[in-house]
Amino acid sequence: MKLIKFKTYAEMSEYGAKIVQKTVKEKPKCVLGLATGSTPLGLYENLIKKYNNNCIYFGDVKTINLDEYYGIDGKHDQSYRYYMNKNFFDKIGILYANTFVPNGMAENIEKECKEYEDRIDEIGIDLQILGIGNNGHIGFNEPCNHFPSKTHLVDLSESTIRANSRFFANLSDVPTKAITMGIGSIMKAKKIILLATGKKKEIIEKAMYGDVTPEVPASILQFHPNVTVLICEEM
Ligand code: F6R
Repeated sequence: MKLIKFKTYAEMSEYGAKIVQKTVKEKPKCVLGLATGSTPLGLYENLIKKYNNNCIYFGDVKTINLDEYYGIDGKHDQSYRYYMNKNFFDKIGILYANTFVPNGMAENIEKECKEYEDRIDEIGIDLQILGIGNNGHIGFNEPCNHFPSKTHLVDLSESTIRANSRFFANLSDVPTKAITMGIGSIMKAKKIILLATGKKKEIIEKAMYGDVTPEVPASILQFHPNVTVLICEEM
């Protein structure tokens, strides 16, 4: 795993956006694996600027997101589909049909997860963007006693529910389950960049240099051949 440190969040975001730009330039029909949360917002803003300056074209790009809350639909303002449309897809001229986010309202969750995993295999992820939870989760693969291999429905941990509650009016409104790519699904990506701000420093150190254990899900990335961790000093 390669680590690159930045002083500011702005510098980290700019660098991350350049990696995405390079990927799209080299392979216009590439597939980007995307994350939500606070951390990648600056990267998305940079990509939107590049798009507005005609420096990147998303017309042939496909995207596939890591996860979605279970039990809320894409129109809900806290759903990850809503987040992606509002913060990125609506502003980059991408075809919505080429953007994939799990359907948190699917009636048959098993079928939804299987079809999502099949899609990952069919299109293949060229570049996966990741954030990291305070407990080391990637996607919504929470610390547990094994590394889940495929897309699945997961119970969110208490600490994740608490962390996510900052976006909801009440703690009781926060979804307690999510559909997430598995650790195995993420590991299939050809290249991975993980972005983290200063407050994640400790867990990043554990993930990069500690034991590889499902107690720290991101530690599995030590076994991936092409991971770059971008971290900034700012919180
Ligand atoms: C989001 C995701 C999560 C976040 C993580 C960090 O799609 O999969 O793993 O990346 O919870 O979130 P932030 O960036 O808000 O600290």
